[in-house]
Amino acid sequence: MTEHILQLLQNNEEWVAERLSEDPAFFTEMAKSQHPRYLWIGCADSRVPPDEITKTHPGQIFVHRNIANLVIQTDMNMLSVLQYAVEVLKVEHVIVCGHYGCGGVRAAMGNHQYGLIDNWLRQIKDTQNYYWPQLAPLDEKARENRLVELSVIEQVYNLGKTSIVQNAWAERGAPYLHGWVYDLETGLIKPQTSMINNEEILKEVCKFEQGIIGR
Ligand code: CO
Repeated sequence: MTEHILQLLQNNEEWVAERLSEDPAFFTEMAKSQHPRYLWIGCADSRVPPDEITKTHPGQIFVHRNIANLVIQTDMNMLSVLQYAVEVLKVEHVIVCGHYGCGGVRAAMGNHQYGLIDNWLRQIKDTQNYYWPQLAPLDEKARENRLVELSVIEQVYNLGKTSIVQNAWAERGAPYLHGWVYDLETGLIKPQTSMINNEEILKEVCKFEQGIIGR
C-alpha cells in the first residue's frame, strides 16, 4: 500500500527532471506570478482532469472542483475562488464543466442515502423536478445525460447571477461564461451554452421557461 504513495513522489521527481530538460527556467519563471485566462469549475471526479483534457499547462487554468460541479450561492469556497479569479486575476472565461456518468448526478436521481453528500446534491434534485416534463419521457440513460446537461446550464445561470460576475460584466464586458459537458466514453467536450458575457445572452441561453431550454 505504501508503495503507491511513494510512487507519486517518484513521479514528481521525474516530472521535475522532464520539465527542466525542456526548459531550465520552467520553475523559476512559474514561481514569479500567474496569469490564467480561464477559471474552471469542474467535478471532483478523478477522470476529468482539466489540464489534461484541454492540453493546457500549469499556470493556464485557475481551478475549482467540487462534487457534481455545482455553483451554490452560499458556498464561500466557490465564491472566494470566483471573486479572486474574476476581480484580481481578471480571467477572460469561466467554464463550468460537468460530465456524463457523474456519480453526483446519479446519486441525486435516486432515493438512496449516502450521508452528508445528499445535502450537497439537493440542488440537482430541484433541477430534475423543474425540468421533469422534458426528462420524464426519456429512458434512464438519456434522462441522466440530459440532467447532466441541464445542471451545467443551471450552474452557468447561477454564476451569471452572482454580484461578482454582474459587476465584472458592467465594468469590462467579461468574463465569458461557458457550460460544457465532458464525455467519459469519447474524451470529447460538448458545449451546452454559447459564450455569455451579458444579462441578455444569459437570459437567452438559460431560459427558465419550460420547453425553451435545450431546444
Ligand atoms: Co461527477
